[in-house]
Amino acid sequence: MRIAITGASGLIGTALSRSLTADGHDVLRFVRRPARDAAEIPWDPAGGTVDTRRLAGADAVVHLAGEPLGPARWTTARRRRILESRRRGTGALATALAGMDAPPPRLLSGSAVGYYGDTGDRTADEGSPRGGGFLAGVAEAWEGATRPAEDAGISVAHLRTGVVLAREGGLLGTVLPLFRLGLGGRLGSGRQYVSWVALADVVGAVRFLLERPDLTGPVNVCAPEPVTNAAYTAAVARAVHRPAVLAVPAFAMRAALGGFADEAALVSQRVRPERLLAAGYSFRHPDLAGVLSDIACGPGTA
Ligand SMILES: NC(=O)c1ccc[n+]([C@@H]2O[C@H](COP(=O)([O-])OP(=O)(O)OC[C@H]3O[C@@H](n4cnc5c(N)ncnc54)[C@H](OP(=O)(O)O)[C@@H]3O)[C@@H](O)[C@H]2O)c1
Repeated sequence: MRIAITGASGLIGTALSRSLTADGHDVLRFVRRPARDAAEIPWDPAGGTVDTRRLAGADAVVHLAGEPLGPARWTTARRRRILESRRRGTGALATALAGMDAPPPRLLSGSAVGYYGDTGDRTADEGSPRGGGFLAGVAEAWEGATRPAEDAGISVAHLRTGVVLAREGGLLGTVLPLFRLGLGGRLGSGRQYVSWVALADVVGAVRFLLERPDLTGPVNVCAPEPVTNAAYTAAVARAVHRPAVLAVPAFAMRAALGGFADEAALVSQRVRPERLLAAGYSFRHPDLAGVLSDIACGPGTA
């Protein structure tokens, strides 16, 4: 296959490109600068331009680009960048694809389990309604922006992704050094659910969905068993053989991180990947202890 990826330099994009290339597929990368070789596609997500000439013959686009959520304080300007990079960038991409004579037939577009807002102890699946809060609104706008592609007959799925666990980066990669020093701790009460997913399973799910254009609409990309933050913290500590007796108080997180604390760290998201499971996707890492031990000590398979 010939697959074009936006956000190809990011955590998921890098792992996906490596996996596809290793299996002999052609990978094209969207770049926010002039192209340096024939495998690069210049685009300007903020300005709304996409050079579609190099997309001719592509079988699919995987759209992962977007302003990082943090961990960082959510100022008004950052919130605007988080929203607009996704709404405008996705709209520009979908409109450009729709305008092609022979567009790639498949678009897998990023989204997040943040769509469901705070689910408390209730389990959410793809049939659950949109939740409240900034991130739920971002996810809705992000998904809605693919409409021109859907109207043009492109098969579109939205990757409602959970917290990606990887040694290379993401939130876990950032906090692992603290846990190794015995300075890890639960966040707030620790009762909130974390819908996690191993990086290898994000790549696996994307590759599965590339082969299944019949699966359109929202697809939760998270492991089947979400855990509480307290259980997650204990599992990370066990994986690095250190205690985690500390707790980061909610008020301190709010003071340091503003809205990011409530919406990304203290929020409870108990989400199940019903559609992937029903379609027969087999998780490489259904078990949290296994993936954490791989990340903490293993050869980088997670
Ligand atoms: N990692 C997670 O835990 C997680 C969870 C749920 C959802 N997601 C979503 O999945 C997507 C990929 O995640 P990731 O972890 O790979 O993200 P990432 O490492 O932050 O990479 C995102 C990529 O987007 C591009 N980008 C950065 N700022 C941008 C901006 N202002 N406008 C347009 N493009 C920008 C960059 O690629 P270029 O420089 O190559 O353009 C960057 O490498 C993101 O949209 C993210 O929100 C991730």
